[in-house]
Amino acid sequence: MSDSRARPQVPAPSHPWRLAYEGFDPAEEGIREVLCAVGNGYLVSRAAAPESRADGIHYPGTYLAGCYDRAVSVVDGRTVENEDLINCPNWLPFTFRPEEGTWFTGPAATEQLELDLRRGVLTRHALVVDDQGRRTRLTQRRIASQAQPHLLALETELVPENWSGRLEIRSALDGNVSNTGVARYRGLTGRHLVPDGQGADADGTLWLQVAAAGSPLRITLAARTLAHRGGAPLATIRTDEVREGLAAQVFVLAAEQGSPVTVEKTVAVFTSRDPAIGAPLRAARTLVEQAPDFARLVRDHALRWTELWSRCRIDADFDGIGTVRLHLFHLLQTYSEHSVDLDVGIPARGLHGEAYRGHVFWDELFVLQLLNLRFPELARAVLRYRHRRLDAARQAARAVGLSGAMYPWQSASDGREESQQLHRNPLSGRWLPDHSHLQHHVGSAVAYNVWQHYQATGDVDFLATTGAEMVLEVARFWSSAAVYDPRRGRYSIRGVVGPDEYHDAYPWSDRPGLDDNAYTNVLASWVLARALDTIDVLPGYRRDELLERLALDRGELDRWQEVSRRLHIPFHDGVLSQFDGYERLAELDWSAYRRRYPDLRRLDRILEAEGDTANRYKASKQADVLMLFYLFSAREVRDLLRRLGHRAGPELLRRTTGYYLRRTVHGSTLSAVVHAWVLTRSDRRASWRFFRDALAGDLVDVQGGTTAEGIHLGAMAGTVDLLQRCYTGLEIRRDTLWLAPRLPSAIGRVELDLRYRGHWGVTLCVDRRTATVSLRESPQAPIRVGFRGSPTTVRPGESQRFSL
Ligand code: BGC
Repeated sequence: MSDSRARPQVPAPSHPWRLAYEGFDPAEEGIREVLCAVGNGYLVSRAAAPESRADGIHYPGTYLAGCYDRAVSVVDGRTVENEDLINCPNWLPFTFRPEEGTWFTGPAATEQLELDLRRGVLTRHALVVDDQGRRTRLTQRRIASQAQPHLLALETELVPENWSGRLEIRSALDGNVSNTGVARYRGLTGRHLVPDGQGADADGTLWLQVAAAGSPLRITLAARTLAHRGGAPLATIRTDEVREGLAAQVFVLAAEQGSPVTVEKTVAVFTSRDPAIGAPLRAARTLVEQAPDFARLVRDHALRWTELWSRCRIDADFDGIGTVRLHLFHLLQTYSEHSVDLDVGIPARGLHGEAYRGHVFWDELFVLQLLNLRFPELARAVLRYRHRRLDAARQAARAVGLSGAMYPWQSASDGREESQQLHRNPLSGRWLPDHSHLQHHVGSAVAYNVWQHYQATGDVDFLATTGAEMVLEVARFWSSAAVYDPRRGRYSIRGVVGPDEYHDAYPWSDRPGLDDNAYTNVLASWVLARALDTIDVLPGYRRDELLERLALDRGELDRWQEVSRRLHIPFHDGVLSQFDGYERLAELDWSAYRRRYPDLRRLDRILEAEGDTANRYKASKQADVLMLFYLFSAREVRDLLRRLGHRAGPELLRRTTGYYLRRTVHGSTLSAVVHAWVLTRSDRRASWRFFRDALAGDLVDVQGGTTAEGIHLGAMAGTVDLLQRCYTGLEIRRDTLWLAPRLPSAIGRVELDLRYRGHWGVTLCVDRRTATVSLRESPQAPIRVGFRGSPTTVRPGESQRFSL
């Protein structure tokens, strides 16, 4: 059997607001570039050293939200098409050399890197010693402005320690980059940009424009590089170097021992997708021309971070709070107010690398509940991204002979299915068919997110104009996918894959997909029931409009009722079965496998390389059935199963949790979040271990190599939400904010500021003895807060304390 232990404990960053690294470690470079990346919701730029190139150790990637390119590749003799988040032109290139020396290309003699989470500033201190023994102290600070999302800035201070003389500085914009950040994808087309103009203006502005090779997209950068000493502009001699895909400048100036020279590189980035700009080149030139100096840029930027942190204040007295903030930091760098008008979803790996090609999965399920109570407008923007792709989802359903909306497992620019058709097992070197697109449960995640947003915000208008249509169309999809099985007198949903991707077919069948995945079916039943509720809560004539527009008649609604009550839910050995027939699978010889392989997270690859398949075994990659207990309270699961005609007491939760926990290898970072959540109800110590494990996810790259390819955003957000909703027991049901705190013993107090139903100052404080909700003064209506079954009213300016 697998064990229920979380993996080894890891140190959290010791500082609550800083992430710091000492020295240069080639093996760790990729992780640092990702964890110290700077971004603002419009773009994210990895923390690569400005003098570095993509060389297998460094990877200076910058990614713009929603900027994808489509390309064809030949894999294993087959032609496949992929849409990739583009690695954009490199804005960073910056280096220097003392007179007659060689250009600094790294590594430096000493290195320190420090990310200030509070202000969003990345600082690097280094000592550079050249081959003639000339020592130069280098301090670099960089930001991706949260105040002006099109601006990136790099300030470099150089202090010659033991030399004086001519100093040369080289600053460039480099469009000759491609997507090579993920080794596994290197057999695929990685060239996504073609040069589309470059130049150096008389006033010193550099510019570069590129076009996407296979998509109608242009990206433009303009840069201004200025040198000063203590604020006084420095005389420089400038030489421009412009060739296809590159715009560079070399500045020559006089440097003196001990006297700092400061160089500010400010870069504006625009694309043809940006609203309200006209031509990107003009916009970039104008912005960079008008941009203030670095100190002012940092002031404005830091002010925005102060606002962001006060909106998502989270305090807890334990040593992992710095990591929780790091996770929030990267969430707000990936999705912010600057993402709202870009028509973008939440990419599973952030905008921090090229893993999963920047695609959007179901992972927003782990993010939106957090945003609903902090930045509901961001949650709405994510849902609008899905709404704009509703027609694509409808077409996908029609293409397989079903109705309603079938959302893609992987989504990118236009909402078509972007899952790969083949994936490579690096252990065996084989290309294998990929059936992950059968994870139709992603549509239920969209519907769940819509409904939870409505619950958290009470926003009927959003539901009526945008959300409802998605819930109804996903319900319609499930109803059309459900097939009546007269043998059982129940409906079945066949040929799907559940969240556990290790099982994509029965070992005894040639057909991909499984039947009656419990998670899929219970969620389908929930969606059908909520779709009926949605119709009930819609304002009168909007309801009629939608019913007419979608041609929903009584007969179809009756069928929704019927299917929602009579979907088949498989059980075996007193637990919910992951899917129908699960009990026929073999037990894996866990102890033998544990002896042979120190890490079983990619058990699927191990088995395939041995000529076997994970499909044969009762072994899961990640929480599947247990997702139900993550999304719903024990009571809600009980009610859902009752609706489906099954009795489900607390024993079912306990047995089912234990059963799958023993058979799960946590091959997805999402798994630790779900287990931490579910186990609060039965084993708080185990929950805490999983929480620590989820916190460690990217910080120590628990998957051994994946963090360098991008953050795991769902797991990052999930850890914050564990503090926000799980350990405080916060739930919103029927217009009431319920509390049922379950603090782990290692945390004595959690304090949060939330936004709830128009209130911008709801403070929730939970400690060992009390839970207190306070409302700031405001003209808003009172709210209802529930504790131990009874709701109370809390008015603006009031506090309500409950004794635990
Ligand atoms: C997980 C999925 C997840 C995807 C993107 C996969 O490894 O199995 O559940 O959506 O990663 O994060």
